Amino acid sequence: MLHCRNDTMDLKKYRRHATLRDGTTILMRPITPEDEELMLELFHSFSRETIYKRWFHIKEYMPREQLRKYIYNDLERDMALLAVVEDWDGEIPVGVGRFSFNEMNNSAEIAVVVRDDWQGKGVGTALVSYLTEIAKERGIEGFTAEVLADNHAMLHLFEKMGFFINKELVDGVYRLRMFF
Ligand SMILES: CC(C)(COP(=O)(O)OP(=O)(O)OC[C@H]1O[C@@H](n2cnc3c(N)ncnc32)[C@H](O)[C@@H]1OP(=O)(O)O)[C@@H](O)C(=O)NCCC(=O)NCCS
Repeated sequence: MLHCRNDTMDLKKYRRHATLRDGTTILMRPITPEDEELMLELFHSFSRETIYKRWFHIKEYMPREQLRKYIYNDLERDMALLAVVEDWDGEIPVGVGRFSFNEMNNSAEIAVVVRDDWQGKGVGTALVSYLTEIAKERGIEGFTAEVLADNHAMLHLFEKMGFFINKELVDGVYRLRMFF
């Protein structure tokens, strides 16, 4: 049974707009159970390469149980943001960024994925910047992440954030510990 304790939380306070390099405005907002369809639409837009880089294996479909984990979040403890472009017909999902708090070392595990045709425009940078801001506000000391050794875009993105980064390479995967 998945719980989410967000009833008393002001979700609106986490809504944030950002302007991409080409001038497009995106909205980053917390993911809620109402986002099931948008999350599926986003997943179905991913190429096999993007799926592999995010999950380290090919997923042909998104299992219901996993989807529920992505949409039922305890946002007081963790954070899960959906980046969307708003148009007349509603919202087009373009990326997701999330962190899960780990009280053992006061850090949070971060993961980001951006829709293929929106990569390279600044969506990933906007999501990581905003997640960093939220994590710092909560007194979290840094992020951890696992990134494929040849995922230069993700590694570059973390480096340009100015984190102090410890890297350990295990079986072609970097285990990163990043301190703010
Ligand atoms: C990695 C990912 C999240 C980055 O998001 P994005 O929106 O494409 O990234 P941005 O446009 O914000 O910018 C990424 C930076 O990496 C750079 N970059 C892109 N491709 C690169 C490459 N092959 N080598 C080095 N840098 C690269 C960009 O130039 C940019 O740096 P800059 O701002 O200094 O110019 C996105 O590409 C993605 O979803 N990839 C597949 C899933 C994935 O790898 N997830 C990470 C799992 S932890």
